[in-house]
Amino acid sequence: MADHKQKPWGGVFDGETDPRVERFSESVSFDHRLAEHDIRGSVAHARMLASTGMLTPAERDQIVASLEQIGQEIAAGRFPFRQELEDVHMNIERALIDRIGDVGRKLHTGRSRNDQVSTDFRLWIRDAIDRLDGLLANLQRAFVDRCDRDHGVILPGYTHMQRAQPVLANHYWLAYCEKYQRDRDRLADGRRRVNQLPLGTAALAGTSIPIDRHFVAKELGFEGVVANSLDSSSDRDFAIEFAFTLSLIAEHLSTWAEEWILWSTVEFRFLRLPQAYCTGSSIMPQKINPDVLELIRGKTGRVIGNLTSLLVLVKGLPLAYNRDLQEDKPRVFDSADTVEACLELAAAVVTGAELNRPAIVERLERGYLDATTLMEHLIKRGVPQRTAHEIIGRLVATAMKRDVPLAKLDAAEFQAAHQALDDSVFKVLGIEQAVLAFTSEGSTAPAEVAKQTTAWKTRLQME
Ligand code: ARG
Repeated sequence: MADHKQKPWGGVFDGETDPRVERFSESVSFDHRLAEHDIRGSVAHARMLASTGMLTPAERDQIVASLEQIGQEIAAGRFPFRQELEDVHMNIERALIDRIGDVGRKLHTGRSRNDQVSTDFRLWIRDAIDRLDGLLANLQRAFVDRCDRDHGVILPGYTHMQRAQPVLANHYWLAYCEKYQRDRDRLADGRRRVNQLPLGTAALAGTSIPIDRHFVAKELGFEGVVANSLDSSSDRDFAIEFAFTLSLIAEHLSTWAEEWILWSTVEFRFLRLPQAYCTGSSIMPQKINPDVLELIRGKTGRVIGNLTSLLVLVKGLPLAYNRDLQEDKPRVFDSADTVEACLELAAAVVTGAELNRPAIVERLERGYLDATTLMEHLIKRGVPQRTAHEIIGRLVATAMKRDVPLAKLDAAEFQAAHQALDDSVFKVLGIEQAVLAFTSEGSTAPAEVAKQTTAWKTRLQME
C-alpha cells in the first residue's frame, strides 16, 4: 500500500487509503490508453507556461525532454504503471517528478486533472474519428469496387421482406455508400465540437495563474477554446455524441450483415460468402456459418449498450466535475474498438463475396416484380392511378392462380382488362424491361446508377 503522503493530493490527509478503495477507484488500468495524448497535452502546457513566464526556458526544456522520454518508454511497453497512483495523469507526473525533482513539480501549475483528462480524451477521440473516417471510406470503396464486377445484375428489391420491384445490384451497393457517407459527415460534424480545448479552465472556475489558452489550443491543433470553465469541467457531450455516431455506424453494419446472412442461406442462394470469413460447426460437417456477419450484427448490442451507459452516467450530475465521469472512458474505448474491428472485416467480406448469378436469374421472374411498371404504363395512357392499380391487381390475381408471370398472359386477356393494354405491354413486362422503365432521379434506372457510380468513384478518389 502506498503511503498517502506519496499521493499528489495527500497533503490534507492524515490516514491511509484503504487498499480496496485504491482498487475500486483506479482508472490507470484503462486510461493508460490516453498516455500519448496526456504527454502531448503536458508538453503544450509546459511550453505555454514558459511563454507566460511561469517556467524558465531551461525548466521547460527539462520538462519537455523528460516527458518525451517517458512517452518513448510507454510506447515501448517499458513503463511501470502503478495502480496506487490512480490514473495515467498521476503516473506520468510522478515519473517526471522522480526524474527531475522540483522542476517536475511545477508542471501542474494552472491546471487540474479535470481539464487535463478532458483534453486527453478529446485528443484521443479526435484521432479515433480520423481512423474511423478512413475505415468507412475503405468500406465504401469496397462497395463501389463491386459495381464493375456486378454490372447488369438485377436483384429483387423488397419491402416488408416481400418481393417488390427489381433493383440493380449496384443500386444496393450504392445505397450502403450513402449511409456510410452520412456517418462520415456525422463524424466530421462532431469533430468540430470535440476539437475545442478545455485545458486552462483548471478545476472548474479558472485560474489566477497567468496562462494563454490559445497558445495551447494552437499547439494541439484545437480549433478554439471551451468558453465556460464550469461547462468545460463537466461536459461529456463530445464523448456521448461520438458514441451515438458509433452506434449508428454499428446499426448500418448490422442491417447489412443481416441482409447478407439471409442472402447467403440455401433458401436465398444470392450470395457466396468468402470462406476466410466463415467458420464451421463442430458437429455438423456440412456447415459453413457466416460468423463474422453474425458477430458484426451481435456486437451492435454492446455499442448501443455503451451509448445508453453514457447517457445514464451523466443524467443526474450537478456542475461541475464529478468522479462518475471516469466511467466514460471504458465505454467509449469499447465502442470505438468494436466498430473499428467490424468496419475492417466488413470491407473484407464485401470484397470477397460473390453473387450467385444463375441462382438469382432463375428465381427473378417470380414475385411479379414488374406489376408496378405495368400499372405505371397504364397510368401514362391516361388511366387514373387508383383505377390502374385495381386493373393490374386483377391481372396479377389471374396470373397467380395460374402460377405464371404476367408476361405469360394472353394479349386478349390484357385487352379485356383495359383497351389501353395493347401489345405494348410486352415491351414493359419482364424484369429487364421493368428496370429500364425507371427514369426518376435517384431511381434504380441503369443510367441513374451509372451516373452515381461515376460520382462515387470521383468522390472516393478511385480513378
Ligand atoms: N481519472 C479521472 C477521470 O478519469 C481524472 C480526473 C480526476 N479528478 C479528480 N479531481 N479526482 O475522470
